[in-house]
Amino acid sequence: MEDSENKQTTARRPKTGDKLTLKIDGLAFGGSGVARADDGIVAFVRGGVPGDIVEATVTRRKRGYIETRADSLVSASPDRVEPRCAHFGGPTGGLCGGCVWQNYPYNLQLEWKRRQVSDCLERIARVPNPPVEPIIGMECPWEYRNKMEYTFGDGAGGSLSLGMHRAGFFDRVVNVDRCHLQAPRLCELRNMTRAFASARGLTHHWARRHEGLMRNFVVRASSKGDVMACVVTHTGDFDKYSREYADAVAADFPEVKSLLWRINDSLSGIAVSGEERVLGGEAYIIDEVCGLKLKISAASFAQTNHSQSEKLYQLLIDNAETSGGETAYDIYSGMAPIAMLLAGRAGRVIGIESNPDAVADGRENIRLNGFSNVEMVEGEAEKVIAEQCAQAPPDIVSVDPPRVGMHPKVLKAVAEARPRQVLYISCNPSTLARDAVELIEAGYSLERVIPVDMFPHTAHIEAFARFDLRPR
Ligand SMILES: C[S@@+](CC[C@H](N)C(=O)[O-])C[C@H]1O[C@@H](n2cnc3c(N)ncnc32)[C@H](O)[C@@H]1O
Repeated sequence: MEDSENKQTTARRPKTGDKLTLKIDGLAFGGSGVARADDGIVAFVRGGVPGDIVEATVTRRKRGYIETRADSLVSASPDRVEPRCAHFGGPTGGLCGGCVWQNYPYNLQLEWKRRQVSDCLERIARVPNPPVEPIIGMECPWEYRNKMEYTFGDGAGGSLSLGMHRAGFFDRVVNVDRCHLQAPRLCELRNMTRAFASARGLTHHWARRHEGLMRNFVVRASSKGDVMACVVTHTGDFDKYSREYADAVAADFPEVKSLLWRINDSLSGIAVSGEERVLGGEAYIIDEVCGLKLKISAASFAQTNHSQSEKLYQLLIDNAETSGGETAYDIYSGMAPIAMLLAGRAGRVIGIESNPDAVADGRENIRLNGFSNVEMVEGEAEKVIAEQCAQAPPDIVSVDPPRVGMHPKVLKAVAEARPRQVLYISCNPSTLARDAVELIEAGYSLERVIPVDMFPHTAHIEAFARFDLRPR
């Protein structure tokens, strides 16, 4: 970077509140642009994309880097594109917390995501030239989310807002009218729900004071178009309105096959806890993934990008070297899609999952799809894995952990059981890289890594990694 492009208002190490002019030459894991301040310190720049020169304010100072927020563009990157969404927040974004990269071309987003996976494996796992293949992107990277969780908040003139958290705030809501990550019909249902609550003077729940009624609206659609919608409230008066709301939804949205009301008094922001009541239809919807029927209830995890999750699952299955008689494990199995896909190619499959709702859905899915060689074990993987492996040593292990990655006890038990393959689906390249260190040390080679873009315009990265046991 040219010094002249990096004009700084102070010669000392920048501190919180300082204004800097920064030239961005990369994108960091997490979505920020990367620049260097005059003294050489790395600056992460929220709202900047490679090629921009921005005026930015330092928001945080850490030992080896600073975090900044782009206030304005001094000179725009030639790569910039016009964000599609009215809620993005101008050239440097920062309004809606949903997307960070709508101002950056999709093909370049993909390139950076692939690079970030590769960087993590090189930097954290110390794998030279990691075998990261081209990322699998979407042909049309819009309206791909089959599930969104919206939050109620304060609207204009005393009305209610319903939308996404404002970037960087847990208690401020951007009133979303049209979200381009979700299908227009689902946006209409959200808008109708907001109008219904607003017209009846219902209050929103204040996260800080833990008062007020309306908390969240969660909407999910199956690939066939069936919809599950769930209004989440604090304890209060919604009972008076629930029948009327259910009738209004049934009249205008016949595709809603499951209408739920959840009463959630918890202090946490998690929408799916608390008592659930069915206001219309069933407590679940049925989706179809890779030819399997999947019964999905509100509290179970299900992938949010249908077409990309099919590609991801197919990758895993295509890389599983089975001849038919193997014992396979699906750890962090959710409601068992991977377990069932493996069941067509292995002798016996054991799914391990801690969420009781997902386990119940998984058992029902196994029955619905007619598998007799798949079983679900309910429990935290770290608590049950050693005993399971002792009883039924795995030949193949598939893992799909949450962002924190595999629990060390799970890694240890898997490494000791020495399955010939570990097939790893990761939603966090840094924990994938951390776990890769252990697997490589335990005798595995990292054969392939294929990122699959499940979350266009956001900084989230999903990847499949294949580890094969090296001969001793
Ligand atoms: C990323 S999801 C994957 C689900 C599934 N493989 C799928 O594709 O739908 C991770 C799953 O791990 C489960 N989970 C989280 N912590 C766990 C633990 N300690 N032990 C077992 N399962 C856990 C979650 O409930 C969730 O269903």
